[in-house]
Amino acid sequence: MDGAKILEKHREYVFPAVIYYYQEPLVPVRAEGLHVEAADGRRYLDFFGGILTVSVGHCHPRVLEKTIEQMKKLQHLSTLYPNEPMGLLAEKIAGLAPQPKREAGRMSPTEGAGARGAWEGRRPEAEDRTGPPIRWKSFFTSSGTEANEMAVLTAKVVTGTTDMIALRHSYGGRATLAVNMMGQAPWRVIPAQLPGIRHAHAPYCYRCDFGLSYPDCGLRCAKDVETLIQTETHGRIACLVAEPIMGVGGFITPPREYFQELVPIVRRYGGLFIADEVQTGWGRTGGHWNGIEHWGVVPDMLTYAKGLANGAPIGATLARAEVADGFKGLTLATFGGNPVSMAAALATIEVIEEERLLVNVETVGAHLRGRLGELAEKHRAIGDVRGMGLMQAIELVRDRRTKEPDAAVTARFLEATRRAGLLIGKGGLYGNSVRIAPPMTATKNDVDEAAKLMDCALSEATGP
Ligand SMILES: Cc1ncc(COP(=O)(O)O)c(C=O)c1O
Repeated sequence: MDGAKILEKHREYVFPAVIYYYQEPLVPVRAEGLHVEAADGRRYLDFFGGILTVSVGHCHPRVLEKTIEQMKKLQHLSTLYPNEPMGLLAEKIAGLAPQPKREAGRMSPTEGAGARGAWEGRRPEAEDRTGPPIRWKSFFTSSGTEANEMAVLTAKVVTGTTDMIALRHSYGGRATLAVNMMGQAPWRVIPAQLPGIRHAHAPYCYRCDFGLSYPDCGLRCAKDVETLIQTETHGRIACLVAEPIMGVGGFITPPREYFQELVPIVRRYGGLFIADEVQTGWGRTGGHWNGIEHWGVVPDMLTYAKGLANGAPIGATLARAEVADGFKGLTLATFGGNPVSMAAALATIEVIEEERLLVNVETVGAHLRGRLGELAEKHRAIGDVRGMGLMQAIELVRDRRTKEPDAAVTARFLEATRRAGLLIGKGGLYGNSVRIAPPMTATKNDVDEAAKLMDCALSEATGP
């Protein structure tokens, strides 16, 4: 079937609310590594990786092999029956989960730095920890939405209260709870239906709600959460959910001490801290498995999806053992822990370990940051460059002084990159953030090629 026919079927039979990139949507037919081939035969360099899902490259041979092997053996029986890949994945994830460290939060987010040199394809040594190791347990589902739903439900069950906090500019999924947690109007779709959700100021330094600048701000956005709890809740909360770097919000990257200021407040008022690692997890930020490990706090729960299984549908809620054990009542997920997705996730993690991708993300991410910095020197439309590892964004503005968002130039830029043969992402409440997040196997040469294409596309988008 050709691209026009495929598109015609979508237009006829698929909800029109499903958004597509580009005026004339791109119809991919096959992909390999960092390249996608479209129905018209054109090849594209993929610097968005299916919304940060394709973490180790399209159709990675090892992941394919393990997935097909599992499909031939046992495809599905539901969580009512234990299966080997689920047990193995839960064990693996528990072994890679965050642990307390003596030295925490010393890295600058803008440096794209992790525990430089400390990662050698193994966990941090025991002497890095202060207390006994935390034990972790997993609950598997099929998406990030479900992972977040389960985390919040667990927090409500174990704390016995329902007030909770999300961040402005956040994106947590598309079920009722997630839509109500949403920190961006366009994705909320209908008026609030769930009481008890409060939205805290985001650590959005480029557009600080308080008009302050870091570090003189004294982290007002984090401190304000205490006032929020005292004035807008009944004084106890179940949880606060936050992305270590806010993905759909436009890769908003908090100042380095933000979570160390925020998390004690959450706990003081009885809440659990849930790190939504759906975009930042599994090495994306470089140097660590989890984005939150850069910030020197250990969450009570973490949620995963996207990159965990390199594109196979998966969601995981990871909780400290005492939290998981506190979930009383029945629960199941028909497709949760599906052996095929579990096998794909195990293979993906193996690839990340064997190809030393946490180090690659750090090195190539720093190179990408450098290239984006050069573009910012040349193109006045770039107002901000931010992110960590292979999760970097630029924000396009009309005027650097007023920071007025330029959604029109951003749209033209996206079209121009596509014409040039490059796929990148868009985001941000104002439609002016460009998200750059290639598979974690990207090399410096790939980055150089992408930077060259972005340079030309920016000239085209901003030109007369
Ligand atoms: C940070 C974050 N959390 C949760 C979700 C929801 O994941 P899913 O689309 O798999 O339900 C997303 C999706 O983009 C996300 O970016």
